[in-house]
Amino acid sequence: MHSNSSPVISNQNGIHDQLEATVRKHLASEYQRPISEHAQQALAQLYARWDKAQPLVLDSGCGTAQSTRLLAEKHANALVVGVDRSEVRLEKGQQLPANAMLLRTNLEDLWRLLAADGIKLAAHYVLYPNPYPKAAQLRYRFHGGPVFSQLLQLGGQVTLRSNWALYLQEFAQAVKIALPELAEPVVSELPSQEQPLTAFEKKYQDSNQTLYQLNVSL
Ligand SMILES: C[S@@+](CC[C@H](N)C(=O)[O-])C[C@H]1O[C@@H](n2cnc3c(N)ncnc32)[C@H](O)[C@@H]1O
Repeated sequence: MHSNSSPVISNQNGIHDQLEATVRKHLASEYQRPISEHAQQALAQLYARWDKAQPLVLDSGCGTAQSTRLLAEKHANALVVGVDRSEVRLEKGQQLPANAMLLRTNLEDLWRLLAADGIKLAAHYVLYPNPYPKAAQLRYRFHGGPVFSQLLQLGGQVTLRSNWALYLQEFAQAVKIALPELAEPVVSELPSQEQPLTAFEKKYQDSNQTLYQLNVSL
């Protein structure tokens, strides 16, 4: 099927010139915003379900949770948790296998709560995050925001996918700034015949866009 979803258009041509300063500023300061009630409730829901011995996989920004379902099949011994703030998207949701669940909350708050509890993920998927492509929007990208260090603290095999290569290249650079001792994240093109993991991935594939993946082991 052909679709005509537009590629990302940005006024930014390379890694943002404020990336290093922004990442270092956030690493050096503590984010003070109070944690929302719904994130506390989401954490309680997770802890009611998860015995902490089982590997934990997060599908952050899962949308309609197609990926949560497919990832639960792939990580059959793990609890796979799809998280999204959009009720509308989650409600379009999928019949999930027994080792998957969905939480409706804000990712940044949930990541902060999990990191504060010392939780370590087996794997973390961030699939097609909102790119915020304008240069002035760096602070809205996950690696340009105040919760990047908590995302890193959660650890695991991280997989990010995007139709904007620069998002992933910049995320990779941000990881290098925060964790210089780590092996460099790998950014590669996704094979076009790959079975789509998500609704956005399908839409971009149907529009013949090149898709990219970043892998890093934290
Ligand atoms: C571009 S969509 C991608 C959805 C899905 N991963 C896919 O590929 O089809 C980004 C998703 O992330 C969710 N999202 C973005 N920022 C979020 C945040 N801070 N907390 C929770 N969900 C967020 C949005 O509601 C949306 O469903």
